[in-house]
Amino acid sequence: MIIRQSLKTEKEQLRKLHLETFGKEEGDSVSTLTIQLLEDPTAQPLLSLIAEKNNQIIAHILFTKVTIEDHQTQGGYILAPLAVSKECQRSGIGKKLIQTGLDQLKEQGANFVLVLGDPAYYSLSGFHTNHQIKPPYELPYPEAWMAQELMPGVLANISGTVRCADALNEREYW
Ligand SMILES: CC(C)(COP(=O)(O)OP(=O)(O)OC[C@H]1O[C@@H](n2cnc3c(N)ncnc32)[C@H](O)[C@@H]1OP(=O)(O)O)[C@@H](O)C(=O)NCCC(=O)NCCS
Repeated sequence: MIIRQSLKTEKEQLRKLHLETFGKEEGDSVSTLTIQLLEDPTAQPLLSLIAEKNNQIIAHILFTKVTIEDHQTQGGYILAPLAVSKECQRSGIGKKLIQTGLDQLKEQGANFVLVLGDPAYYSLSGFHTNHQIKPPYELPYPEAWMAQELMPGVLANISGTVRCADALNEREYW
């Protein structure tokens, strides 16, 4: 298996992966969101990584830019979405993609990463709720709104509401 950046020509494979992985209920909206984010100038800079095996894309992770309202902090990202194809789940691929993404963002000088997801899963990769960044909408499960710093100490100095890419700033995704 190799991990590499996705190509502009691979959008259709990514759409299919998210459609199939997220299933009937969420597949349509997550696959649409993925393509919109890849094409959204306000999501830039972004990091889009895939895991590939036997020339097949088996997993995808996307990190897109965020800023904090009324705050100068740069180098913020949000992780969304992440999908590992059904046949390949529970073999460490998701965890490896998250770690590779975090390592690459850190190398590029990123400061922090946010995620809205299952705390039981994302806490295994270092995400936690001990931060002061507010989501753009009120959430039914606040414990699912997590962050981690890539630069020691940055989260202690950031408070305010996050501003995501336009494509992600829709109520249905929160
Ligand atoms: C959730 C998902 C990304 C996990 O990817 P994965 O490759 O199957 O997970 P991994 O094998 O890397 O698991 C890493 C660890 O998390 C645990 N884990 C896996 N899925 C989990 C889940 N749903 N809840 C809690 N823990 C989970 C594993 O046991 C493993 O623990 P360990 O390191 O102690 O052994 C994948 O199942 C998926 O794509 N699901 C459908 C789409 C989705 O829900 N995406 C996430 C929301 S954006």
